Amino acid sequence: MEIDEARWLKLEPRSGETLRGALERNLRDAIRDGALRDGVRLPSSRALAQALGVSRGVVSDAYGQLEAQGFLNTRARAAPVVAMVTRSDPDHREPEQTTRAPRYDLTPTTPDVTLFPLARWLASAQHAARRASTATLDYREPRGERALRDALADHLGRTRGVIAEPEQIVVVQGTAQGVYVILRILQARGASRVAVEDPSHTTQHERIRALGLELVPQPVDDDGLVVDDLDANAVLVTPAHQFPTGSVLSGERRRDLLAWSRATRGLIVEDDYDAEFRYDREPVRALQGVAPDHVVQLGTVSKTLAPALRLGWLVTPPALAEEAERTKRLLDDFSPALDQLTLAELLTRGHYDRHVRRARTVYRGRRDRMLAALEKHLPELTVEGVAAGVHLLLRLPRGVDDRAIADAARVAGIGVPALSAFRIRPSDESGLVIGYGRLHESAVAPAMRALAKLIRARLALVDVQE
Ligand SMILES: Cc1ncc(COP(=O)(O)O)c(C=O)c1O
Repeated sequence: MEIDEARWLKLEPRSGETLRGALERNLRDAIRDGALRDGVRLPSSRALAQALGVSRGVVSDAYGQLEAQGFLNTRARAAPVVAMVTRSDPDHREPEQTTRAPRYDLTPTTPDVTLFPLARWLASAQHAARRASTATLDYREPRGERALRDALADHLGRTRGVIAEPEQIVVVQGTAQGVYVILRILQARGASRVAVEDPSHTTQHERIRALGLELVPQPVDDDGLVVDDLDANAVLVTPAHQFPTGSVLSGERRRDLLAWSRATRGLIVEDDYDAEFRYDREPVRALQGVAPDHVVQLGTVSKTLAPALRLGWLVTPPALAEEAERTKRLLDDFSPALDQLTLAELLTRGHYDRHVRRARTVYRGRRDRMLAALEKHLPELTVEGVAAGVHLLLRLPRGVDDRAIADAARVAGIGVPALSAFRIRPSDESGLVIGYGRLHESAVAPAMRALAKLIRARLALVDVQE
């Protein structure tokens, strides 16, 4: 470790305290408060003595004391290493309790990250880095790497019917940042009202409110977003697969929404988060491809590859491209260039498509199993949502407290959110939003059995109480 930077270098003995005592106290405090973490190697007694301007004996004595107290591990002729602080130390603070991972993780928003094509990613990263010029390591274009934007323009045109020149694409850190960029642009243009589907992804609600914009909840039914009475400057919508109900925006509603945008100049922000995973047919074309001047399309690799990559993009109407670039630059200059080049490599060499096909087969299998298990154990309840993505909606009878069921499930080791957790306005609609992305094939049947048992018991309880 760098001695110069260590704050315990300052030896200020308290009255009656020796230099050794002061050093021992400094080190103990640093270990206790976590500044010196277990496993950190301290300087040798000779080096530290020299840095402190004290005799070597002072340091070796302090180290010896700390070893005796269990704060350091020492070996002959080796510098001491900070030990794991023992629980018997009365001053030692336990790290914050982390919540235990559920036995069955039915999170609806996450893919199976164990499917991540690590070997391909690493090989592509190596290839991309080798080919890159040294300038690639410098400050880069805010819009993102040209190679990635070219690859995305091709890919999105082919798979989603998106119509975009690479200049309209801005690479961002996931949908999260894409939404933020758009909201900042809207705000700068004087927008005040942003509509979202009710129910929808709650983090988006927070983002909108955090920027001081008014969150306008817009109902959702079997045909997706209800467009009637839409009164906002922009609307954030999931047309290909509504989150969390799983409906698809019907043809009529798509037309209504585009007509609304043309009439009011309201911006449509299309969250195209999981369109790659449609299991029974081709997904509907991205709205952007029908009205490129009215729609911002947001895409992400969080579902197809891994959320941790924080790689996404927005395809803006040509008139917004410069503002989007400027906003991205003000936020964080640009997204990590080597990761962008790696994704470009995966896309252009076909590895991305192959991976998506493989993941699609896995998720489809899990969904089929889940449907079969729900049909077997909960035949009275209906499952909603098209065959897509990594989640479905299990409807519960109206008025049932779905949060109480989700709470009981958590206690039973099943992590699954209630439909009402995604709501803005209260509703008597009830359900569980069940993800199958993370649930290994072998766990689907036991997980559904356990969930069904709990639901059956709860519903019976509700029946009795009513
Ligand atoms: C509706 C919706 N949009 C987008 C995303 C992806 O967000 P990001 O790209 O920021 O990881 C998710 C993931 O949970 C989602 O549920």
